[in-house]
Amino acid sequence: MKLKHIISARQFDRKILEKIFALTNQIKAGKYKNDALYGKIMATLFYEPSTRTRFSFESAMQRLGGRVISTENAGEFSSAAKGETLEDTIRVVNSYCDVIVLRHPKTGASEIASQYSQVPIINAGDGEGEHPTQAILDIYTIFSKFNKKTFTVAMVGDLKYGRTVHSLSCLLALYPNVKIVFISPKALSLPKSVLDHLRKKHVDFVGTEDFRSYLSVVDILYQTRIQKERFGDIREYRKYYGKFIIDKKVLSFLKKTAVIMHPLPRVNEITPEVDLDPRAIYFEQAQNGIFSRMALLLLLFDKAKL
Ligand code: NCD
Repeated sequence: MKLKHIISARQFDRKILEKIFALTNQIKAGKYKNDALYGKIMATLFYEPSTRTRFSFESAMQRLGGRVISTENAGEFSSAAKGETLEDTIRVVNSYCDVIVLRHPKTGASEIASQYSQVPIINAGDGEGEHPTQAILDIYTIFSKFNKKTFTVAMVGDLKYGRTVHSLSCLLALYPNVKIVFISPKALSLPKSVLDHLRKKHVDFVGTEDFRSYLSVVDILYQTRIQKERFGDIREYRKYYGKFIIDKKVLSFLKKTAVIMHPLPRVNEITPEVDLDPRAIYFEQAQNGIFSRMALLLLLFDKAKL
């Protein structure tokens, strides 16, 4: 099986996901060829800040024997600063490499880039749109804890601008026994396009502002950061900052078997004391990013023997 571009979580089905999970497990167990991508070059083109996504992609590529060319802060340090369009940048960069990992502030940027690129484009976050590879590592982490695939997920925080939530919701929509509770201030609830998609897929979900009531029933508490950079008016951001915080008290309401996830970076929405609780799995989740991104790269280059 071969993937072309990775633009949206909506392009995945259960069959592909199962393959990715199996391959990720294999890689996690150390069973991969460290020269599988020898001779291949990845370009990481990031117009927005990143730590985990860029480093884990670059590390994944290098662990598989490939090489990386990179610009962080591409808006400032690439020709974009001179006024070059994304289309032109992609038309040029795609001839220097075999895959482009793109993070861009504009929703839909990866989709546009894919129309101008001869090499695969991986969407590493397009504004308030999607972040499909984060969703893959998230759902892989969830299934590594809940293999019976019947559970309730609560997604908390900035569901309007949080692109990881948009992508993860679409992956969860593929599994009929999953219930989702969306907890956010009304003004930061899910965008219509995601809601419409979930309705079309007959997902069992509810939206609420009531954080406390659902704590005792959820299996997965997926916390997110209020996306400060997306607010035109900082006063608006301050209204929501600190609204839903996971602290020791919240832990006392959660099931013993529940897990707490977060795509990271966190600001104040999970207090550091929570890190010591065995239900806090966000650092393990981040670590899974490397294995699942290695799996995705092998699939993109048709090097996965499955
Ligand atoms: C997320 C992102 O960039 O959307 N970070 C990540 O890639 N792990 C979440 C965030 O920035 O809040």
